[in-house]
Amino acid sequence: MRHNRRVTSTIDQDHLVRAKAATDLWRTAVVYQIYPRSFADSNGDGIGDLPGITSRVPYLRSLGVDAVWLCPFYPSALADGGYDVDDHRDVDPRLGTLDDFDAMVRALHGADIKVIVDIVPNHTSNRHPWFVQALAAGRGGPDRDRYLFRDGRGAGGELPPNDWESLFGGSAWAAAGDGQWYLHLFAAEQPDLNWENEEVRADFGDTLRFWADRGVDGFRIDVAHGLRKDLSELHLPWGEIADLMREDGSHPLWDRDDVHKIYADWRRIFDSYDPPRYAVAEASVHPARRARYAAADSLGNAFNFAMQDADWRPEDYRRVINSGLVDMINNGSTTSWLLGCHDIPRVATRYGLPLEKDRPAYQVVKTWLLTDGTTPRLDRALGERRARAAIMILLALPGTTYIYQGDELGLHEVADLPREILEDPMASRTTTEKGRDGCRVPLPWSQDGPSYGFGSRPAHLPQPDWFGAYAVSVEEADPDSTLNLYRRALTLRGHLFARTDLRWVESELSVLHFERGRGVRCVTNLGAEPVALPPGEVLLSSAPLDDGQLPGDTTVWIKTPR
Ligand code: GLC
Ligand code: CA
Repeated sequence: MRHNRRVTSTIDQDHLVRAKAATDLWRTAVVYQIYPRSFADSNGDGIGDLPGITSRVPYLRSLGVDAVWLCPFYPSALADGGYDVDDHRDVDPRLGTLDDFDAMVRALHGADIKVIVDIVPNHTSNRHPWFVQALAAGRGGPDRDRYLFRDGRGAGGELPPNDWESLFGGSAWAAAGDGQWYLHLFAAEQPDLNWENEEVRADFGDTLRFWADRGVDGFRIDVAHGLRKDLSELHLPWGEIADLMREDGSHPLWDRDDVHKIYADWRRIFDSYDPPRYAVAEASVHPARRARYAAADSLGNAFNFAMQDADWRPEDYRRVINSGLVDMINNGSTTSWLLGCHDIPRVATRYGLPLEKDRPAYQVVKTWLLTDGTTPRLDRALGERRARAAIMILLALPGTTYIYQGDELGLHEVADLPREILEDPMASRTTTEKGRDGCRVPLPWSQDGPSYGFGSRPAHLPQPDWFGAYAVSVEEADPDSTLNLYRRALTLRGHLFARTDLRWVESELSVLHFERGRGVRCVTNLGAEPVALPPGEVLLSSAPLDDGQLPGDTTVWIKTPR
């Protein structure tokens, strides 16, 4: 008896140790975001695929990341880049098979890299069997209950239930053809699910277990703030609810308090695995509400999009960093920093356009895109220089850092893609957006070739001539390249910044200066004029120093004497 008890307690002990190690890893991990269709094409059909990712595991290992997050690779008509999912428990045949998925996970795990997959619970595609059944069921049929169908206005329901708008532009309602309309907060091919429906909830539990059983280590939860809706006030005019961010959870569509009940259920699923599965929320919510998603009894981590929206200004960075630190204190977790992702123009480009007083860079770049990148003038070198300084700030912060594929090469947005080939529904549903294809152009791996080493034939989105200069092979050979800066920074980060403390050091206004751990400091000059460096050993610099001084748009990591 006694013996048995000891054995049990040893197992519990091991479990706890593993759980703690897993949690610790996710508190500081560096995660590389892969947009599978545009990463590496193994069979020359122009579309990136899972075997392509497997073939590039050595690259990911040499970069030094702890994990990868894969954007959707599920069967899909690609009405929204794969975020219109036909079947959440399979692989799009154009991207491979479940066996390819398993082989990829084995290869990544063999290189000590964890795997995060994307879960899209707010909507399915319009080709999902549930939605096909819902349309066939006819007005008021029970199969409609998994979605959000409502009667239209007008005698025959020929008008949408109200004037609410989709985030991609146009009406948020599409006609079922029988007087009812269904809600789609994104494209019409993405009908929103009804999370009050039992079957919907059960099915997503099965999906999480399906991937966790296949060895997936974590999940990125798409539109995590959108699942619960209150459609009892359809009379509200859009003007009253168009501002999506509220501090009190009272918006009918976004960030409602009871969304966390869903995540409490998911938490039980995550924690039933050993080690527990990780999750990160994509939740565009009021900063004061972000910590709720990152709480231990909810998803456990959340992206800090404020950094992505910040300008290259010391006051912006200070504000965003401080709010991220407050999150950590409030939720016992860490925050997830990022400079870019597949939804926003590339950081090197945002930081290379002239700053405007009343419009943030992420908006300036959208107008620039509408001119195909001609106006205002982009200073490529400046943008790259600032993006290098910026990633060194992020990598020195406590928390998790996400790197979007290609940012490690200093890639710029591709601004002049012809309108007729754009894939993003944002571009076709509005005239005020060129959409997100410019940051989704397939990666250049070598200087030449029909798709710069992405595959053996041209890529699904055309790569511009200047891509060759940013190719992995070119940057590998250049010790001063952005790629080599990332590699050095990632190696050092593990040694220097393992803890979660941060102390601001007083500095001039244009300088961001903080200390981490024992005397290691991160100092950034966001101004134009060189400034004096604090004494100490320079461990890494994002640009050459200027006669012992810290030039503008440069970050250094320094070990100060004790
Ligand atoms: C998220 C994704 C984005 C997608 C949207 C709808 O915001 O990041 O790419 O379009 O959700 O699923
Ligand atoms: Ca392919």
